[in-house]
Amino acid sequence: MATKVIKGGTVVTADLTYVADVKIEGDKIVEIGPNLSGDETLDATGCYIMPGGIDPHTHLEMPFMGTYSADNFDSGTRAALAGGTTMVVDFALPAPNQSLLEALQAWDNKSSMAHCDYSFHMAITWWGEQVFNEMETVVRERGINTFKHFMAYKGALMVQDDEMYASFQRCAELGAMPMVHAENGDVVADLSAKLLAEGNNGPEAHAYSRPPQVEGEATNRAIMIADMAGVPLYVVHTSCEESHEAIRRARQAGKRVYGEPLIQHLTLDDSEYANPDWDHAACRVMSPPFRNKQHQDSLWAGLAAGSLQVVATDHCAFTTEQKRNGIDNFTLIPNGTGGLEDRMPMLWTYGVNTGRLTPNEFVAVTSTNIAKIMNIYPKKGAVLVGADADLVVWDPEKTKTITAAAQESAIDYNVFEGKSVKGLPRFTLTRGRVAVEDGTMKPQQGHGKFVKREPYQAVNKALSTWKELTSPRKVERTGIPASGV
Ligand code: URP
Ligand code: ZN
Ligand code: ZN
Ligand code: ZN
Repeated sequence: MATKVIKGGTVVTADLTYVADVKIEGDKIVEIGPNLSGDETLDATGCYIMPGGIDPHTHLEMPFMGTYSADNFDSGTRAALAGGTTMVVDFALPAPNQSLLEALQAWDNKSSMAHCDYSFHMAITWWGEQVFNEMETVVRERGINTFKHFMAYKGALMVQDDEMYASFQRCAELGAMPMVHAENGDVVADLSAKLLAEGNNGPEAHAYSRPPQVEGEATNRAIMIADMAGVPLYVVHTSCEESHEAIRRARQAGKRVYGEPLIQHLTLDDSEYANPDWDHAACRVMSPPFRNKQHQDSLWAGLAAGSLQVVATDHCAFTTEQKRNGIDNFTLIPNGTGGLEDRMPMLWTYGVNTGRLTPNEFVAVTSTNIAKIMNIYPKKGAVLVGADADLVVWDPEKTKTITAAAQESAIDYNVFEGKSVKGLPRFTLTRGRVAVEDGTMKPQQGHGKFVKREPYQAVNKALSTWKELTSPRKVERTGIPASGV
């Protein structure tokens, strides 16, 4: 089999930085060390050789709010590779009363176009015996160990507390991990109706309807429900101090809770919604909305301190045309923004170049922590012999200005338009295949493979052992008074 050697670079992992060449045979890393040679050489002089990024949160071709997100597994995974991301985890989304396995079939069909590897989370959008039963097949046979619960989108995807508690307990039994979109959907619905009634129908009202309190409340509630069910918990798109504080406090109390800030929340703020141009503001409508600088500082601090573990995009891109569905009513603007191509360069520029993150921390939060939390480490997220050769050769001196005109994404704008980034891929390799070479895309549709994720062993076992040891027990008494006396 033909070999490739990445030569002259510095390997940067979540815990080590060292000069070495990396040799690849087929789709695996086969050797790491000095002076390696192979059939083909990739020059990494002046570059860092890092595990490719993993985006744990995308919505490609997702049916949502009366339309479909505009990037599919073709344009979405091309965008990923262009920015140094070599794997995405997308959400299979059953319609209410639809079989989980049927939804999975639909996601299998869509994802056959993928240019890089991918996996799925399963969303629990309704509850019943069928869902309870199918969860087992999803975990044991289909290689999916994470189940997402929407605490918002009332009347659509939202689940109630009793459903969430039942599903979390089922996750505990199956060795799976629940995830939550943590916003109090009842309060959001009420605030939205009130704002509309007052004539507040513009995109800025989307942000008014979802203050940090709705996120903080829901995050606390989900954490407590997970604790009672005896499962770890993953909180998606953590956007504010209220939610981060709940996660921080839970972790300090020994709970296994993970928090996922998005690159959008880290680098864009709520002043975007005050833009006089309706399209500009509407194109930035997502849930949770962008927050102010204090919340951003909290998220950056969490990444450095380890109370927040990963950075995602929640890539759910809609065109300006689609956003205009809500021209008279902000509640009809499809929620979501893009970011797949920009996550790594933006985080490097605003994180590493500013000193808020070390290069090793960058690798941890964009790849290694995610691989560990998703239970695919060290197949993914590692520069190790035997690992998949999903790698990015990162040029810290390479610059560009982000523009929609030059992006892979199918939409007509970019929320990071005009930002200058420094730090970009020289090469992106997906299972040994060079998909990006110095800014030139060489993608191969269908190259991406589904990555099975095994049930969790250690964490769920530890939590269930503790749960069993501390469960309520009937007190055996002596000297019971005779009944009826
Ligand atoms: O606004 C967002 N985040 N759209 C995508 C769906 C979700 O809530 O994650
Ligand atoms: Zn969400
Ligand atoms: Zn999402
Ligand atoms: Zn293609």
